Amino acid sequence: MQKTQQLYEGKAKKVFRTDDPDLYIVDYKDDATAFDGKKKGQIAGKGVVNNRMSNLLMQYLSRQYGIPTHFVEELSDRETVVKRVEIVPLEVIVRNVAAGSFSKRFGVEEGTKLLQPTLEFCLKDDALGDPMINESHILALGKATKQELDTIADITMKVNEGLIAFFKEIGIDLIDFKIEFGRLPDGSIILADEISPDTCRLWDSETHEKLDKDRFRRDMGNVEEAYAEVFKRLGL
Ligand code: TMP
Ligand code: ASP
Repeated sequence: MQKTQQLYEGKAKKVFRTDDPDLYIVDYKDDATAFDGKKKGQIAGKGVVNNRMSNLLMQYLSRQYGIPTHFVEELSDRETVVKRVEIVPLEVIVRNVAAGSFSKRFGVEEGTKLLQPTLEFCLKDDALGDPMINESHILALGKATKQELDTIADITMKVNEGLIAFFKEIGIDLIDFKIEFGRLPDGSIILADEISPDTCRLWDSETHEKLDKDRFRRDMGNVEEAYAEVFKRLGL
């Protein structure tokens, strides 16, 4: 599999076309941003952690829960072959414990266990700052169909169940996470993008130490160490 033309460079990854029109190669960078790109930095080794962790979790979710994903083949520490999809322009967020923007919006102390998982959507639009959007807005704007949203909600709740169980085994509480979905040429919906410490809040189950990108967002220090710790616990 050969990279041909670079299609797109995002904040954390580059995407390339390949000699197969149905496959892309993603290349994970160490670049980190927060607050709509206003804060910029680098987290040494992050690309490797995010690539390998994401691939491990996608394969686990596919094997154990029958979840369809874009994963095809890990090419190297930073590069993976994925299925070509059209990304559904939504950030799909699940929360098990209050943190981040949820805590701020609703005045709920970080760390408060929620009575049930929440599901929320943000519109993927950097210029607008990825605003929160509801199902009726999504349908009215034609961002996804009702059938697609039902599939997305269904898969997302299974992803939550799978990831909670997986992280529990390695002493980590899954506080919340963001995932994205893609449409294959035949219209079916599959899990795409990444699942990593950039896109999940991961707290040590005993000490509640943060092992994710909040260490970068909040200038807490030991950012690289946190990513390395998750990598180690995953057995990678
Ligand atoms: P939030 O509390 O800031 O809304 O974040 C919820 C979850 O989504 C958290 O695990 C971090 C993740 N996230 C992203 O992956 N990308 C983003 O741009 C944002 C704002 C959050
Ligand atoms: N990646 C996002 C950005 O740069 C935000 C985040 O992860 O906090 O805006």
